[in-house]
Formats: sequence, C-alpha cells, structure tokens
Amino acid sequence: MLDAGLDVSVDGVGNVRGRWRGTNPERGTVATGSHIDAIPLSGAYDGTVGVLGGIAAVKALRGAGWVPQRDLLVVSTTAEEPTRFGLSCIGARAMAGWLTARQLAALRDANGTTFLDAATAAGLPPTTPADAIARSRFAPAEMTHWVELHIEQATALEAAGAAVGVVTAIAAPAALALTLTGPGGHAGTVPMAGRADPLRAAADVVAAVEAAATAAGGADTVATVGALRLSPNAANSIPREVSLTVDVRDIDKRRRDAVVRAVRSAAVAAAKARRVKLSIASPNADPPAACDPDVVTAARGAAAELGMHAPDVVSRAYHDTLILAPYTRAGMVFVRCRAGVSHTPDEYASAADIEAGVKVLALTLAELARGGTPADPPPPRATSCPVTGIVASGVGSFVCPVNQLAGMVGRALGLKGVGGKGGGRAAAGGEL
Ligand code: GLV
Ligand code: MN
Ligand code: MN
Repeated sequence: MLDAGLDVSVDGVGNVRGRWRGTNPERGTVATGSHIDAIPLSGAYDGTVGVLGGIAAVKALRGAGWVPQRDLLVVSTTAEEPTRFGLSCIGARAMAGWLTARQLAALRDANGTTFLDAATAAGLPPTTPADAIARSRFAPAEMTHWVELHIEQATALEAAGAAVGVVTAIAAPAALALTLTGPGGHAGTVPMAGRADPLRAAADVVAAVEAAATAAGGADTVATVGALRLSPNAANSIPREVSLTVDVRDIDKRRRDAVVRAVRSAAVAAAKARRVKLSIASPNADPPAACDPDVVTAARGAAAELGMHAPDVVSRAYHDTLILAPYTRAGMVFVRCRAGVSHTPDEYASAADIEAGVKVLALTLAELARGGTPADPPPPRATSCPVTGIVASGVGSFVCPVNQLAGMVGRALGLKGVGGKGGGRAAAGGEL
C-alpha cells in the first residue's frame, strides 16, 4: 500500500486501510479489498487476490495519471474466515457497524484468547471493545460503494471460457447445530433390538440433508454436513452423544429456508424413530445478497471497454461483500480459478486471469470514484444488522501462512516487496 502511494492506517479491529485522497472527498469513499486470512490447508488465492489486486488496480490508475473525485480506499479485512474466532467477516462487520462492542468482547479462540488480546499481541495498541468498534465503523453514508475482486471458487467461468465474471448475487449460509443423545452402552452386549443409537439417527439426518437440497430443485441450493463429533468415540461403545453441523446455502432465501425446515423435520423424525434426544441450535441464517445494480453496470461496462467477455455469475461462497451489501452499494468481480478448486492448497488462478480481473476492477473503481452529477443519493442502508454469525467447527491453534501467500500472489501480479520469505505454517497440514 505504501509503495502504491496510499495513506495507510489500521482501524480498531485490524482492518488495514490504504487511502487515496480524491479531489472531492466530501462525496464519500469508494472501497475495494478482501481478506488475507485463511482456513487450515488453504490455497494462496482466496481473498489475497482481492487485496493485492486492489492495490495493483489503484497503482495502475495512479500510474496512468488519473485522479479520483471520491476517495479510493483499499482494505485488507480482518478475519473473513471464521477459523480462529468462530465468527466470519469480523472486519467487514465492524466497518459496516454490525458488530457491537459486546459481541467483540465475547470473541475468543479455542485457547480462550480474546480477540482484543490477540490483536494486541499482533501489534495493535491495547484498547477497549467500545473504542475498537468506534475506530472501525464507517459513518452511515461514508462508503458509497464496495467492490471486491475474488477468485470464483466454482466452475461457471471455466465453462464459459471467460477469465472474469460479474457477480450478480451472493449465496448465504444458514447453519444448524444438532446434538443427538442416547444412553450409550456396550457394543457387544446390547442387542440390536434394544438400541437407541444417536449415530444411527444422525445417519438418517445426513441422508435427509442431501435429499432436501437435491429436491429443492435449484442448481444454487447446496447443503453439507461438514462436522461430526462422536462421544465417547470408542470402537466398542454405542455412541452416547453425536453432534453435527449442517450448512445450507442458496441465493434464494425462501428456497434455502425450506431446505432448513425439511432438515429440521427429518431430524425430529429420526430422533423419534431411534428413541434418542435431539437439540437443535440455529447459529446463523444470513440473508443472501443481490449485488448493487450500479456496481454491476460499472463492472460490465469496464469489461466491455476492455473487450473482455465477462458473463454474469453468482457467488456460492460467502464473502465480506455479503456482509457489506446491506450497508452500501456492493458488488464483486470474479476471476476464473482452475477447476473451481478452492479451500485446498491446489487452488490456482493464472497470472493472466488475475491481470484481467485487476484491469476490470481498476476501470470499475474509476467509474464509481468519478462521482455522479449531481451528487448520488446516499446508499440504501439497512437500519439494523441483518447478518448473524457464521460458525466454524472449532479449529485450534492455526497459524495463517499469510506472508507466504502474499508473496506468491504478489509475484503473480508483479508486485515487488510483497510478503516475507518464510511465512507461517498450517498446523493441520505442515508446510504448504
Ligand atoms: C467462505 O470462505 C465460505 O465458506 O463461503
Ligand atoms: Mn474462503
Ligand atoms: Mn475468500
């Protein structure tokens, strides 16, 4: 950011912000960015492309001698992945004003370390939750637009033979956390007929999750049991307690919520049939987002100006943009990634495709930061927080290999001096 001539600051929750002053800053700020944190055994591109791509886009605009009317801001957001603190998109929630001081104070990792203690250990000045929130949130109409560049993490662009795409909607997850409890018992001595086995009930639930998503009839409906825990988890014991998570996503909230209801009914029926107790928690049910028409139009126009085929696509993963969409005019530009593979070290996007994405981003930002005449109306802003938490499945002491990832993508983008040599380590899988 410094190399790109930006005025760099770090807000109360650790979002790193690089600002380029426009000629008319009173007309608000156009922001771009993404995240550089990661999940265990992550790839090098998820998020990182949008941070370094945002810097590259701004650098290109400056290099071309162009000057924005609105301020242009590049943000590296804090904790988009829920890996450490169990809540996704902490930085974006704080910027939008959705995160309260009380919620921030309650965030703890698997070792019991609070978010703010971790932030202090990472070099942020010690502060109170209220101050951290106050120094992170944007004023209601301050950020007029948000545009995020990200790898697609799916195959629509590859199928269309396109390097970039314009995102029109972002699917959102609803999560269920189910716990099934039975009496347990000896695997050898309890006859089959007398058993009340919570894992057998869970097996019915797993099958019902797949069936409900398939029956929903939308290509954008997906449902996953991603975490399953057994207790006592012993080869010669009938399980006593089984907990599982269900993640249901769609760009259509009604269709997604119908799948959630079907899974709930199936779980009640399975528990009854297997004579086990059931408890169901619903940690989150975020609303899907439609991308803002002004941002979509600007991105389509940018691609057309560059002579690029950039089809409309939807996002099946969530992003900081999902959280920022109720706050400001928000949209995304996607970059094709190989075989749609993401959240694994095999993730890959070519330098040429990333470059195409950066160019589209640069022209999109230029259009939005040019400023309308007369001044645009303030962005439509939700009056309360429509977004709840997105809960991870208890990863312990993960160390983000961020320097290494930044170095790899920085090299792909031709940015010099980005990222350290060594990088960290993914605790779950050794050196990447
Ligand atoms: C984001 O990483 C997601 O799980 O969609
Ligand atoms: Mn991710
Ligand atoms: Mn991401």
